[in-house]
Amino acid sequence: MAISDMQRRRMLPVGMLMIEHRLIERMLGLMRAELDRIGKYGRVDADFVDDAVDFMRTFSDVCHHGKEERILFSALSAKPLEPGIRKTMEDLIKEHKFARETVEDIERAKERYLIGERNAPADIISALNTIIEFYPRHIAKEDKGFFVPSMGYFTKEEKEQMLEEFIDFDSRLIGERYKAIVDGYEARFMPRARR
Ligand SMILES: [Fe+2]
Ligand SMILES: [Fe+2]
Repeated sequence: MAISDMQRRRMLPVGMLMIEHRLIERMLGLMRAELDRIGKYGRVDADFVDDAVDFMRTFSDVCHHGKEERILFSALSAKPLEPGIRKTMEDLIKEHKFARETVEDIERAKERYLIGERNAPADIISALNTIIEFYPRHIAKEDKGFFVPSMGYFTKEEKEQMLEEFIDFDSRLIGERYKAIVDGYEARFMPRARR
């Protein structure tokens, strides 16, 4: 995952998205292992499920889908796209929404597990299975049939600019995430603190 600034500056914007796909695949592998453990022992590792939900929300959705939708898809929308590419882009947006909803299902089932609901482990298995089955197909659709042709709509300068926007997007995101944590704790512990 670690890539130098130099390598980043030489890659295509979609190269950065593909590297992120490889990390998402590793998390999906861990989710598969947790699903198997729940099936075998009937116990849920709630800390792992929390981390998996946070990963899917913050990394996969806000950071990764964020760059896809807000930067790449938004720039593509301004181009005279082939109908096939446009249709794929619209499908990808719907799939992001489906992934988001499935992650909510995982979290809700985990909350129900924590209060001792008997059906909750089965519901966690079902929601984990949905995302594990679905998300690799989403990745394959982007990696194999969308990212490379999408780059054909941009000039060399536009692609360089897009990569810069991706890098800026990530750095803003990390600042915002930790500012939100500080804001949240200040509101709880120091409601009158001047900010
Ligand atoms: Fe996507
Ligand atoms: Fe993606």
